[in-house]
Amino acid sequence: MTLLLQEPKQSLNLSNLISISDLSKEDMEKILDTAKNFESHTPLDLLKGVILASCFFEPSTRTRLSFETAMLRLGGSCIGFSEVASTSLKKGESFSDTIRVIGSYADLIVLRHPLEGSARLATYLTTKPIINAGDGANQHPTQTLLDLFTIKKCQGKLDGLHIVLAGDLKFGRTVHSLSLALAHYGVRIYFVSPHSLSLPESIQHQLRRKGVKFSFHSSLKEVLPKADILYMTRLQKERFGEISLENSCLLKQEHLKGVKPNLKILHPLPRNEEIERSIDQTPFAGYFQQAADAIVVRMAILALLSGKL
Ligand code: CP
Repeated sequence: MTLLLQEPKQSLNLSNLISISDLSKEDMEKILDTAKNFESHTPLDLLKGVILASCFFEPSTRTRLSFETAMLRLGGSCIGFSEVASTSLKKGESFSDTIRVIGSYADLIVLRHPLEGSARLATYLTTKPIINAGDGANQHPTQTLLDLFTIKKCQGKLDGLHIVLAGDLKFGRTVHSLSLALAHYGVRIYFVSPHSLSLPESIQHQLRRKGVKFSFHSSLKEVLPKADILYMTRLQKERFGEISLENSCLLKQEHLKGVKPNLKILHPLPRNEEIERSIDQTPFAGYFQQAADAIVVRMAILALLSGKL
């Protein structure tokens, strides 16, 4: 008798990556496992002949450059722009025409845009996979996948952790995506922000529906001793103008007395004044490792979305 062993299905159950809610837990695990494999072995020619268009209508350092690095590491090529001023949008071309044309040049499109819903709209303008690299204050799903990867790497698991999400929870798209993803892992979440920057009601509603345990706080000191992960975010000044974070939401080295020895502090970066610089030298600082983890996670996203795995 011959036993037919089926290869496990590798590719994702979706053709675009727009919202973290589009991904099942199984999809997320597939991306994290693929990224882990890429840490020890990079198939150098996997995306040979595949072209990525990185279209950034808003500034970026990490997301754009880590996507482009990921593509190059897998043998693919990149085209794109990092500012609207260098495109024909300056001559009055519409977003729709722009995406339609780029879809006829590239095999995948990574898109960052200041308007919420722009990435979803782009999926109706081209048949090529669209990857949301941040749409206004809405979501940043690929940042979330690398956040999960780093959390799992430094804590050895995702399930059951105590996680503090602090800073600008209203406009911070990384927090919106991350809190929804964490709902799959039975975590306890503590949200720390000034009242005026608290988590949008729509996200709170989704978390309640999923049975996530969470609470709201105005001071980091209240919750730090319980935390396995402290996820800090900056004020999204570009979305609402100049205000500053209250002192109770700023992390100082003195706050780290009495925290769990394995606490890790993460931040999607860029940071402003919310993490005191001296903390970089402590074993609690995980944000630069997190930024470096972007490469393997985005390699996994590109490989799976392009159907090459
Ligand atoms: N974390 C993040 O999105 O950084 P950039 O804005 O530099 O891409």
